[in-house]
Amino acid sequence: MFNLKEIIRPNVLKMKAYSSARDEFKGTAEVFLDANENNLGSLAGENYNRYPDPQQKALKSRIAEIKGVRPEQIFLGNGSDEAIDLLFRMVCTPGQDSMLHLPPTYGMYEVSANLNDVQLDAVQLTSDFQIPVKEVLASIKPTTKLLFICSPNNPTGNLIEPESIETLLDNFDGLIVLDEAYADFANAGSWTKRLDEFPNLVILQTFSKAWGMAGLRLGLAFASEEIISFLNKIKPPYNINEATQKLALQALQHTEGLCDMVEEIVQERELLMLALPGLATVEKVYPSDANFILIKVKDADGLYNYLLDKGIVVRNRSTIKGCEGCLRISVGTLEENQQLLQAISEFR
Ligand SMILES: Cc1ncc(COP(=O)(O)O)c(C=O)c1O
Repeated sequence: MFNLKEIIRPNVLKMKAYSSARDEFKGTAEVFLDANENNLGSLAGENYNRYPDPQQKALKSRIAEIKGVRPEQIFLGNGSDEAIDLLFRMVCTPGQDSMLHLPPTYGMYEVSANLNDVQLDAVQLTSDFQIPVKEVLASIKPTTKLLFICSPNNPTGNLIEPESIETLLDNFDGLIVLDEAYADFANAGSWTKRLDEFPNLVILQTFSKAWGMAGLRLGLAFASEEIISFLNKIKPPYNINEATQKLALQALQHTEGLCDMVEEIVQERELLMLALPGLATVEKVYPSDANFILIKVKDADGLYNYLLDKGIVVRNRSTIKGCEGCLRISVGTLEENQQLLQAISEFR
């Protein structure tokens, strides 16, 4: 049986959160002399002399509306990378606990485990990049606190079968971190709709991909109110800056613009999927539910360097186990994709 209190680190259970000036003051006032700010103003523009809302209330309220969850089920991080790191610090005691990830997958799970001195266990995805569920269940140890699943998976691009995710959610007493960074590009609903069914589910999303705000650094975690309250307890007080809160709130008024961009990117992805297999050097094009495509080519290093010479940079994934000979290509604009296809077709 999953019991959150049993997996939260004892020091996190015991500690008191930092109480910031803006946390302690509630109500309205004219004169703010509580946070040692510069009351003369800011060279950066209006309001930037003030600390931002530590709980990001306006932003969370709008996100809750769009995603159909309660604001208390949302944590906002300085990119989802911050949420990943905080999840480790929330449940994994360094030098004692372990995590499980399913390579080939997003590299930050491993980096965060290493940084936090958490033992890294791995079960390789199958040849079609799905989860070998029995093997994963057999690899869970009493010390396993986190299991990372990325769907659609980076760098392979495919959605993970929902039945596998559900079986693991039902049979693991630690937290399952389901990374949906690329879910906006997939033809499948988000697991946020099922949050209330699974007390051990944490869903990560990000504004860096479909929303086009990678430069602002805004990531999201959705989970039970209890899990979110622990993430809030341990986060740096002002982790989402004022510019990010303001600009993201503005962008969230234009959800139709998001749909248009996603539609265009998916359309471009499908054109690439049609064109790439016809090129002599391309051996395999993996199916993609994301905004990138993994291709297997005859000479990955050669093609990678050749494209670089042409001013086109893709991601060389050929040294990663399970992705031998592979390049990962982000879907670009129509012109960029044509330039890419032209360049690959001329590679000898
Ligand atoms: C699967 C996955 N999760 C998370 C991230 C990081 O997102 P963010 O920019 O919100 O830190 C990435 C970035 O490439 C990613 O591929």
